[in-house]
Amino acid sequence: MRVLVIGSGAREHALVLALSRDPQLTALACAPGNAGISGHAEIYGVDAGDPAAVAALAKDWDADLVVIGPEQPLVAGAADAVRAAGIPCFGPSREAARIEGSKAFAKDVMTAAGVPTAASEVIDNPARLDSALRRFGPTWVVKDDGLAAGKGVVVTADLASARAHAMTLLEGGHPVLLESFLDGPEVSLFCVTDGETVVPLLPAQDFKRVGDGDHGPNTGGMGAYAPLPWAPSGLVEDIVARCVQPVVDELARRGTPFTGLLYAGLALTSTGPQVIEFNCRFGDPETQSVLALLRTPLAGLFLAAANGALGDFPALEWESGYAVTVVVAAEGYPGRPRTGDVITGAEADGVLHAGTRRREDGAVVSSGGRVLSVVGTGKSLNKARDRAYKLISGIHLTGSHHRSDIAQKAAEGAITVP
Ligand code: AMP
Ligand code: GLY
Repeated sequence: MRVLVIGSGAREHALVLALSRDPQLTALACAPGNAGISGHAEIYGVDAGDPAAVAALAKDWDADLVVIGPEQPLVAGAADAVRAAGIPCFGPSREAARIEGSKAFAKDVMTAAGVPTAASEVIDNPARLDSALRRFGPTWVVKDDGLAAGKGVVVTADLASARAHAMTLLEGGHPVLLESFLDGPEVSLFCVTDGETVVPLLPAQDFKRVGDGDHGPNTGGMGAYAPLPWAPSGLVEDIVARCVQPVVDELARRGTPFTGLLYAGLALTSTGPQVIEFNCRFGDPETQSVLALLRTPLAGLFLAAANGALGDFPALEWESGYAVTVVVAAEGYPGRPRTGDVITGAEADGVLHAGTRRREDGAVVSSGGRVLSVVGTGKSLNKARDRAYKLISGIHLTGSHHRSDIAQKAAEGAITVP
């Protein structure tokens, strides 16, 4: 099987590595890829945001399956273009990808499907903002109603900050979504679906804030671990039954079935799991942890989903133990990251590349905010953490920063579900 992966982050590096372990695989390509991915896949240039260009590359390269990593190409209709070219694609149609592309659409689907989620209001007129803010909080959740790579959300106990963020969004022409605040530990559950059958992967938790102790602004994600030692038994089945399957069924009922990876981000509240958001693709950096533990060949799983054959797919197999991912970010991230610095020590097993590129002289240099994802596995969370942080100590990138507390609370048994 010839598989083409679209994307260039550490998530795609993890996908490429997991796919390369599938004995069915005969060739693997990634576009546009990065310096780390080039060691495991043929690299092609492509404008991933241009559906016709993605489909043309898939046809030229004679792909048997296309796997689309990021949300932007999916929301732009890349999966539709690939399927229209007669090639199976793991990734939802443009219509189904709206579950991530529009938070208002996601709320509408969840309401129709009876899925528990935060109460919300969309504001597109500054004149209505103050009265709306009075109906929410204290602890305001202010979101951009569109794709914002995890950075369009402000969660704050300070009304003035909430108002300022909402005004910035409105002045930029973006409708604002206000939400009630969901308290409780967060879970990311990735589900492979063919539009009908739902196959959950291991549950994971990610760390959105830039600094230790969950301080500082939200980022695309600074680390993650899987599975969750503190998860109540039956949690995954409960989330699938209450939150994921109903959304998959509702999208099918609307004639826009979701094929690909449906990512449920939830808070475990005192009244049970409540959905914070759905995403139309694998999460980054949780994927780096989850796929490090997957034993089932991935290309076969994706092809079954793309072909509507998940109902007959055997149960997934996993390594025992845990995986911890720590993101190494460039100086300045999540603001304006510094780029172009030489990185050393990034060739070790377990070091996945995100914002890297190979310079003409062969050196690997930083080219984005999140530069590397460092993955450690082990029989216990502590062993997996130790392995990840040991790997990080061998990496040098001037000015880089990472969190030192990824999975620490979970390892200490300090997470409780209300
Ligand atoms: P989102 O882009 O919707 O995933 O939000 C980013 C992060 O903001 C989430 O991972 C949560 O940590 C936080 N967040 C978003 N919505 C809520 C909410 N309603 N209640 C509490 N925290 C939230
Ligand atoms: N880990 C968060 C995201 O991928 O959106």
